[in-house]
Amino acid sequence: MARIIDIKADRQAALEAASAALADGFAIAMPTETVYGLAADATNPAAITRIYETKGRPRFNPLICHMADLAMAEHHAEFDPLSRALAEAFWPGPLTLVLPLKAESPIHSLATAGLDSVGVRVPKGFAGALIGAFGRPLAAPSANTSGAISATSAAHVEADLGAKIPLILDAGPSTVGVESTIVKVEGDRVRLLRPGGLAAREIEHVAGRPLLRAKKASAAIEAPGMLASHYAPGASVRLNASAVEPGEALIAFGGAAVAGARDARIVLDLSPRGDLAEAAANLFDYMKRADASGVSSIAFSPIPDDGLGEAINDRLQRAAAPRATDKADRSDRGSTR
Ligand code: TXA
Ligand code: MG
Repeated sequence: MARIIDIKADRQAALEAASAALADGFAIAMPTETVYGLAADATNPAAITRIYETKGRPRFNPLICHMADLAMAEHHAEFDPLSRALAEAFWPGPLTLVLPLKAESPIHSLATAGLDSVGVRVPKGFAGALIGAFGRPLAAPSANTSGAISATSAAHVEADLGAKIPLILDAGPSTVGVESTIVKVEGDRVRLLRPGGLAAREIEHVAGRPLLRAKKASAAIEAPGMLASHYAPGASVRLNASAVEPGEALIAFGGAAVAGARDARIVLDLSPRGDLAEAAANLFDYMKRADASGVSSIAFSPIPDDGLGEAINDRLQRAAAPRATDKADRSDRGSTR
């Protein structure tokens, strides 16, 4: 079972135990401002393999490499002027930059999935201090089983992965609540690869140009086979609900009255005052609470798509996407002769 150390109670013990476990090649749960990460030495292939095994994650996915600061990041990645301006504006913080990997970087190809680029971010708070003390970048996806809801508290991590990892560092609930925003500078353009905890318009303000977006999520949802199930609770997820069915869970937003709410099994409001940052911080915890109530379906009220709403809606659409088992069912039927 994992040892849990409260970093507020004993920061020094947390730093020492974490550095020792990382040096021994273990993957440990590390708090960041976005979500809890499952962190391991990005230069150690055995340690990175532990991340993939612990999460049950496919190995072709590149991992974000976390740095103590911009100076450390510059040892591993090549910064163009625009990427450096974004790093200076938003680090430490919920922004990941995809950059060319320097040939001399010791980051292992298992962390980059063999790409010649690397996703880099400098997290806020204790994680930055830990990386500085450890002295090497940490690869860290969210600390949860692959495909499940991301962990935003030490208790979430313990329930999911506590039997598989030696150490969980507890810094309380993650303040941002959704993963970092990922961008890549391409010539004089900036592409949004994943909406996240830094609103796109803040990046656009510093970059001085609109972000290039991939296919709009609403278009992707029309081709559900293209949209991987992720962030998925046990219950099915119903989006943009104007009414809740008896026995469903309701996750509302902005204090709006929803028809049928009195007959819902459980009613949670992501932010009664309609604050999207508060909604993002509550999102994964409320999904877990609704799921734990034992319902078979969770209805979500519409969430505005501006600011952090873009990241919230991205995660909700993945949570609502057909599950791997649904796909298997369909292909079974398809192959019947
Ligand atoms: O907030 C976060 O970003 C959290 C916390 C723990 O820091 N971390 C996180 O890491 O979400 P991870 O490893 O799950 O993110 C992996 C994603 C990939 O699926 C891909 O979208 C992108 O980061 N990525 C990483 N390296 C990339 C690369 N070289 N090129 C393109 N995308 C990359
Ligand atoms: Mg994840």
